[in-house]
Amino acid sequence: MGQAIKHAYDLDPCVAELYDQQETQTSDIELLRRLIAAKQELRILEPFCGTGRILLPLAADGHSVDGLDRATPMLDHARAKLACLTPHLQERVRLLQMDILASPWPGGYDLVILGGNCLYELATPHQQETCIARAAQALRPGGYLFMDNDHMEGDLDPAWRNADVRAAFPRGTCADGTRIQATRQTVWYDAPNRLARFAREIRITRPDGSVEQQAYLEQKHPVSHDELAGWLDAHGFDIRATYGDHDQSPYTRDAPRAIFWAQKAPRNTRRNNR
Ligand SMILES: C[S@@+](CC[C@H](N)C(=O)[O-])C[C@H]1O[C@@H](n2cnc3c(N)ncnc32)[C@H](O)[C@@H]1O
Repeated sequence: MGQAIKHAYDLDPCVAELYDQQETQTSDIELLRRLIAAKQELRILEPFCGTGRILLPLAADGHSVDGLDRATPMLDHARAKLACLTPHLQERVRLLQMDILASPWPGGYDLVILGGNCLYELATPHQQETCIARAAQALRPGGYLFMDNDHMEGDLDPAWRNADVRAAFPRGTCADGTRIQATRQTVWYDAPNRLARFAREIRITRPDGSVEQQAYLEQKHPVSHDELAGWLDAHGFDIRATYGDHDQSPYTRDAPRAIFWAQKAPRNTRRNNR
């Protein structure tokens, strides 16, 4: 599209604070805990780790967790939370700043987590498939991938095609009085290829009344169960379970989420071609 796609998370420390104010769900962490219950002290990689919402509780459970993210404000917020925890726990967490698409990921992990709708951070199906390929490379043979996204089958949801200006994240007021208001408006879509571009406007009002504005374009591709299942197969995973929500309800076409628990084929194991 000729214009670099920027990201709200890179803009301001207040965005990270608002993320933690508003993203308080723990049902995905509880699901992960149930799935890994019998497995002890795993080496876990969480790309798109943000403020450590998922990663820090898993480190508290005794796992070693590496988080990858490109946004300085999100990583700084995660580091500030980590600094309040015990030295022993701090030793089990590494936070690395990188663009997930630009550099190879570290390797040798027992579990890779692509949680919290992170595939919606990416602009194209090719980029989303690249994440699954990189997850396969980062896992040891027999390691697991947990993938959890809102899901949309078929045509683009009408809400993605509607050109109304809508309120969007980040929005709210931070402890120091900084206020953020953001909107999103669909400016283009390609229904058959399931792509949409949004004009994003973000207004930051400082406690002294000064105002900063940011405007940029972003493109998204909604996640479909069938696409993900095909990419998992193509990159050497066996799907062990799929769920339609964090309570482990079976996946159906109209389920709110597409959740995959997949295993990288163990070494020397011949996979059936499905
Ligand atoms: C919605 S937050 C999710 C955070 C966390 N996974 C959770 O569930 O709470 C998405 C994160 O992905 C990061 N991100 C988006 N695109 C990225 C990229 N290309 N490389 C690295 N990080 C990226 C953003 O900076 C942001 O922190």
